[in-house]
Amino acid sequence: AALVSRSVRRRRRWGQAVALVRELEVACDTPVGRLRQVVDAMAVEMHAGLASDGGSKLKMLLTFIDNLPDGTEEGTYYALDLGGTNFRVLRVQLGGKGSMILSHKVESQPIPQELMTGTSEELFNFIASILKRFVQSENDGFQQLPDDRKDLGFTFSFPVKQLSISSGVLIKWTKGFSIEDAVGKDIAQCLNEAMTKIGLNMRVAALVNDTVGTLALGHYNDEDTVAAVIIGTGTNACYLERTDAIIKCQGLLTNSGAMVVNMEWGNFWSSHLPRTSYDIALDDESPNRNEQGFEKMISGMYLGDIVRRVLYRMAEESDIFLDPAKNLSVPFILRTPLMANMHDDDSPDLTEVGRVLEEHLKISRVPLKVRRLIVRVCDIVTRRASRLAAAGIVGMLKKTGRDGSGGVASGRTRGKPRRTVVVVEGGLYIGYTMFKQYLNEAISEILGDEVAPYVLLKVSEDGSGIGAALLAAVYSSNR
Ligand code: GLC
Repeated sequence: AALVSRSVRRRRRWGQAVALVRELEVACDTPVGRLRQVVDAMAVEMHAGLASDGGSKLKMLLTFIDNLPDGTEEGTYYALDLGGTNFRVLRVQLGGKGSMILSHKVESQPIPQELMTGTSEELFNFIASILKRFVQSENDGFQQLPDDRKDLGFTFSFPVKQLSISSGVLIKWTKGFSIEDAVGKDIAQCLNEAMTKIGLNMRVAALVNDTVGTLALGHYNDEDTVAAVIIGTGTNACYLERTDAIIKCQGLLTNSGAMVVNMEWGNFWSSHLPRTSYDIALDDESPNRNEQGFEKMISGMYLGDIVRRVLYRMAEESDIFLDPAKNLSVPFILRTPLMANMHDDDSPDLTEVGRVLEEHLKISRVPLKVRRLIVRVCDIVTRRASRLAAAGIVGMLKKTGRDGSGGVASGRTRGKPRRTVVVVEGGLYIGYTMFKQYLNEAISEILGDEVAPYVLLKVSEDGSGIGAALLAAVYSSNR
């Protein structure tokens, strides 16, 4: 009798685990109707953010960039890229019309954790020292003359209120950075000072968001590129807006009649977003509560942790794991690349899932049916994330009249939609097969067969850095 009741109990517990997954599935559901509501909400918030500062959770930040690189740029430019998991230094050689980018060299390294929460002086001294080492290590005959000041593109991927193309103050930190004394400071000036102190004859010619760098390179390669999206550690988008639509700075004139706007869409929020108890708990325990709500459902910093929270609850409320699953209580232990590896595992017995559980979470002997259930959790969380990102992209297209829905600002020229390119960069889109597939599917689903063929999503790599170098060239004082 004891044996029977144990097996009955086990079955009931397994049933509980399955029920939790079903519940999650329902809560994360994103049918196309709901995605359309998100599209509309995004377009509405964009309008509101352009109308006045503080008009929306979408900051819609001005960049002062009214000219994107077109291929005529020439010379050697450096760029620094700070804001994700890695910090990068680049040198880009531009050959002018016809030859475009001659060569580029990148050095990448992780940012020491203690610098992410220290002082701004420490951070900028560190950055300047790496840049100096990079410049000095070049043995290709390039020598800096004392009066030969080099222009630098600085990609700083946080919300910045730009004062000009080459200066701007930090509004707040995101993605786990928190260096309080930097908030409100001119970030370009911080770097300029650190460079002077260390004896580097360089100056920030363009201070840009990573989305903006990505758009610059995208446009350099293909003139129909009108927007850029990052889906990496964080998520964000920027696009080219007509200046007369930027109501909050009426009278603003640019040569081209347009300006790149950094949406900071990570902070987007709408009641149409499918939110679960796991999202609420994650937000409550985050250092930036009630902020970056869209980002917390979509980007690489958080997806793995949403899955971890679900698995932890399953472990607590059922006995799917034979071993105690203590590690599941550790925040951020399941990083998104590991989750991606589990989800993209197409081996029949899910060996990669088993490996991740064993090596990273110290849970061994996980039966195949449990591994399958775990993959389902990854699938639900990632499907929601990618489809919401897709809705964000279409929202942007809608705002600029390129979603085929007609209207005054419609992108249709005599009934035919315009070719529209959106460049996408970041680890989730590039390194996570299922994420990319779901995102592309959702775009087609929302846009429909008639319009979808005119909207191209192009993968970009290193665009945030190379693009900043290109913008340094466009806005160089030597030009
Ligand atoms: C965060 C930052 C934003 C950046 C994005 C992608 O959302 O606030 O500026 O573009 O991450 O890196």
